[in-house]
Amino acid sequence: TRGDMPSVDPLRIVAKEMKFLTGNIRKLLGSGHPSLDRAAKYYTQAEGKHVRPLIVLLMSRATSLCPKAPQRQQATLQASMGIDSSISPLSVLSDFNPSATAVAPEAETNDHPDILPSQRRLAEITELIHTASLLHDDVIDHSESRRGSPSANLEFGNKMAVLAGDFLLGRASVALARLRHAEVIELLATVIANLVEGEFMQLKNTARDERNPQWSEETLTYYLQKTYLKTASLISKSCRAAALLGGSDAATVDAAYAYGKNLGLAFQLVDDMLDYTRSEQELGKPAGADLELGLATAPLLFAWKTMPELGALVGRKFEKEGDVLRARDLVAQSDGIEQTRALAEDYAQKAIDAIAPFPESEAKDGLIEMAVKTLKRKK
Ligand code: FPP
Ligand code: MG
Ligand code: MG
Repeated sequence: TRGDMPSVDPLRIVAKEMKFLTGNIRKLLGSGHPSLDRAAKYYTQAEGKHVRPLIVLLMSRATSLCPKAPQRQQATLQASMGIDSSISPLSVLSDFNPSATAVAPEAETNDHPDILPSQRRLAEITELIHTASLLHDDVIDHSESRRGSPSANLEFGNKMAVLAGDFLLGRASVALARLRHAEVIELLATVIANLVEGEFMQLKNTARDERNPQWSEETLTYYLQKTYLKTASLISKSCRAAALLGGSDAATVDAAYAYGKNLGLAFQLVDDMLDYTRSEQELGKPAGADLELGLATAPLLFAWKTMPELGALVGRKFEKEGDVLRARDLVAQSDGIEQTRALAEDYAQKAIDAIAPFPESEAKDGLIEMAVKTLKRKK
């Protein structure tokens, strides 16, 4: 869509801010209890893609050039963003570890006033919430690998993995509260509830528990609603929050949200496609996992539309001997993969269209490139 324009590297545009991300997150996760400290920080060791913080930082910079809301609620409330363990109920444990006190982000560099300290903290919070969901997800999915290493549930056991996830949510909530922005707190708190709702919809798979479900338009609607809740909610609401923290006007806040929602949907559609097309080695996590988990994602749902016999398999969650292989075979014979890719492309384009009104900037190009990259990614 952008002709022969040289493509920008989104990571380079916010490299300075990204450099502090993992360190700051680890500070937010300090606990005086050594094994909790270890389990909580476990998924921060291997380099994740940090897609969500990257998007939040790019959105923060891109919207800094947009019109502001008439009354900026939030000009100066950056008072106490560090996690001060002295007023934390965990102070007894945290006192063992003085490094549990986080440094407020503005203490490091402030040569990019277009990204506010609160927006940098928001980027960290989104990664914390995402990582918490991965800790829980790997327990639910019985996953044995994540980011090319043993999963936390394998390394520490289910109980500690679940508790570590809860701890991340707790620390994310404290950091969020310290932004002192009620609407942003409400948005991110809603995300946490949405993640659980999405996971529940996925466990149930279809709206009704049927033995022999029939394909209908509702099948796709249900899948897309689930996909919004489990993936796009975090990205869209954190984009919205980034614009709000920057004092953007209502149109900009809505555009930021629309960008995140469409990008999030594209992102998960690609994820569901890669589960069919890539190997475990390529992904750094189990491949072909969705069918094994009984999950019917987009490639299969599109195949099902033209191959009604898949209904019975969906109904019994691919549990019968040979179901998974048969389903994989039928998907391969169908155009399910292509249709999934086409739908992902539609959403990525909608994401790009949503931010068209933003003034031209490197950060805006970075957001556009994120949408392009989402379609090209191989893991
Ligand atoms: C990864 O999906 C998981 C999610 C996007 C969300 C999981 C949400 C929960 C477990 C709800 C409760 C958790 C919290 C912290 C609120 P996937 O299994 O398709 O991806 P994967 O292939 O990376 O495992
Ligand atoms: Mg999983
Ligand atoms: Mg899962």
